[in-house]
Amino acid sequence: MTILVTGATGTVGRRIVSELAGRGVPVRALTRNPGKAAFPDGVEVACGDLTEAATLAPALEGVTGLHLITFGGDDGAPLENGPELVELAAQAGVRRVSVLSGWDESTVEEALRAGMLRWTRLQCVEFMANAFDWADSIRREGVVRVFGNHPGAVVHEADIAAVAVAALVEEGHAGETYLLTGPETLTPEQRTRLIGAAIGRELRFEEQSEAEYRAAMRAAGVGDELIEFGVQLGANPPDAGSVVLPTVERVTGRPGRTFAQWAAEHAAAFRPL
Ligand SMILES: NC(=O)c1ccc[n+]([C@@H]2O[C@H](COP(=O)([O-])OP(=O)(O)OC[C@H]3O[C@@H](n4cnc5c(N)ncnc54)[C@H](OP(=O)(O)O)[C@@H]3O)[C@@H](O)[C@H]2O)c1
Repeated sequence: MTILVTGATGTVGRRIVSELAGRGVPVRALTRNPGKAAFPDGVEVACGDLTEAATLAPALEGVTGLHLITFGGDDGAPLENGPELVELAAQAGVRRVSVLSGWDESTVEEALRAGMLRWTRLQCVEFMANAFDWADSIRREGVVRVFGNHPGAVVHEADIAAVAVAALVEEGHAGETYLLTGPETLTPEQRTRLIGAAIGRELRFEEQSEAEYRAAMRAAGVGDELIEFGVQLGANPPDAGSVVLPTVERVTGRPGRTFAQWAAEHAAAFRPL
């Protein structure tokens, strides 16, 4: 039994790879750039591009479990070749699939729903790791600037990975959609204080106006579509983003990791250079 992890160098995928490897499960990590990637000992590395399904055939050889991301390319565009990917996986003998969904459903989920593979969908509220966006201004100025100071039930990437691993190695998760949250709701301002506590530095929090947010994003080279998405989230966040759910604990048997824990683990990223 080998499990192929796509998005293996990414925020969640790299955690899935190390958790599977730590459990002694044979794991193969997909990346478009094997030369740049570093994985734990014993992890097989496969080269392939999800937007070009034909490149995945060698990576899928002998694979019985598959973790899928649903976007391809650095702009986060949803995959348009879901049916082709699902067909290839079925032909290769894949028996279990976990899927990390984006905000909207892609052709991957559509194809899985129409096909015969047993699969589990992971839908997440905001990742704790989005706080890395604040690292630069924290390091340089000791400040976090955010448009929209709304509470969010932010989820730790390791908990998303733990649920994916359960779905890939255990019975009983096929057909489920798991909505994953952290164990508490926290505003960006509260998260700023927790990062400050982790690095022993008092940080300032400044709530941006919409115009300030747009200007800062444009200056950082962010594209129009992502800016509009950020404005929408800042002005009018979805209610589901601020509801704490017990899913992580139900599936993994452990309470969800807290943001204080995340900040302590990543303190080095926020300390002045
Ligand atoms: N951030 C959030 O708050 C949040 C919340 C809910 C849902 N989500 C969803 O979670 C997902 C992950 O988001 P993220 O921002 O954390 O991304 P990420 O994991 O950092 O994404 C990068 C990964 O995608 C892989 N990749 C990209 N295009 C590829 C392609 N064409 N073929 C093969 N691999 C490809 C990259 O592999 P290589 O570069 O190594 O090839 C890398 O491993 C997204 O669907 C997002 O919508 C995010």
